[in-house]
Amino acid sequence: MKFATKAIHVGYQPEKVHGAVMPPIYMTSTFEQEAPGETRGYDYTRGGNPNFTILEELLASLEDAKYATVFSSGIGALTALVSTLKPGDKVIGIDGVYGGTYRLFHRIFKPFGISFTSVVPTSHEELDTILKTEKPKWLFFETPTNPLLEVFDIELLAKTAKKYGILTIVDNTFASPYCQNPLNLGVDIVWHSTTKYIGGHSDVIGGAVVTNDPDLKKELNFRRLSLGVNPSPFDTWLITRGVKTLAVRMEQHQRNALAVATFLENHPKVKKVYYPGLPSHPHHAIAKKQMRGFSGMVSAEFNLSLEQTKKLISSLKLFALAESLGGVESLVNHPTLMTHASIPAEERLRMGIAEGLIRFSIGIEDSADLIADLDKALQNV
Ligand SMILES: Cc1ncc(COP(=O)(O)O)c(C=O)c1O
Repeated sequence: MKFATKAIHVGYQPEKVHGAVMPPIYMTSTFEQEAPGETRGYDYTRGGNPNFTILEELLASLEDAKYATVFSSGIGALTALVSTLKPGDKVIGIDGVYGGTYRLFHRIFKPFGISFTSVVPTSHEELDTILKTEKPKWLFFETPTNPLLEVFDIELLAKTAKKYGILTIVDNTFASPYCQNPLNLGVDIVWHSTTKYIGGHSDVIGGAVVTNDPDLKKELNFRRLSLGVNPSPFDTWLITRGVKTLAVRMEQHQRNALAVATFLENHPKVKKVYYPGLPSHPHHAIAKKQMRGFSGMVSAEFNLSLEQTKKLISSLKLFALAESLGGVESLVNHPTLMTHASIPAEERLRMGIAEGLIRFSIGIEDSADLIADLDKALQNV
């Protein structure tokens, strides 16, 4: 079955009692048992709920995987996952992970003896040496990265990690399963903020972990129950509803993103555009090799002062100034003052996040309107 068909049909068939074509919402905290300890598959929603199962089967199928486990948020999913590590375990991350991921490792898990080191290898050989000498439990990265949309060679990284018995964990939120399936490239665990493209409408928070390992699946179920990082049945239902249109949304997101990126690339007030779908992107070849599409995130550095950049952002009419991404509506974000504000200025500049850098989550509006809005705002700065 192809992706768009799976998105509609996997996980749920019209139910037998009333024939509801779409899944009911099992808004219940507890489930009646046949006899003490004899359940019909569910006992308490913190541990499981039919709406979780529907979404889990669907997400696993879209990632071409055996198992998915849904959580209260992307960070809730990561919390359950990191809680499987032990004191003394090391994680090597590649620069460019979401700020909340960095914060979870440093502020929450470090005191429990789990270390996270973010590295910026200048070559693959250097990363190989780091992995060989540091012997981490996990190699952890995102691709494309936030906000510079760097693309890493997933297959090569997973193969290198495997050589040393290290598990590879990928945050696939930016690409979504429509554009990229890291497990098929050798990765061990994929996690998502389903808040973004998968939910797709900026109206719900959720997360998921996807794997082919049955032991990890059991462990994640146990940790969701024990940590209390379960989603609500209604939120899970909303995300399932969002997934139905993931394929058509992603097509429009990426068509619009390419149109906007091309417009910006040719604009005299733009210094540099970051979009893996542009042939000028330094990692375009790797992106083409491992992605079926390039998703809807575009960043651009403008030849503008901080004040002018702020003015440009506030004069946009169709781009809401907000955190997050992946919804039907276009959003704009200023990494220096918003998502990456907690990183010291020197460190931010070293990472390439300049004051004139703006990140756009390109929605599914008509691209001509988005470009006209940008064009007008650029004329006024
Ligand atoms: C790439 C990425 N991963 C993970 C997260 C965390 O997800 P959530 O906000 O659903 O906890 C975010 C949130 O912005 C994100 O952008």
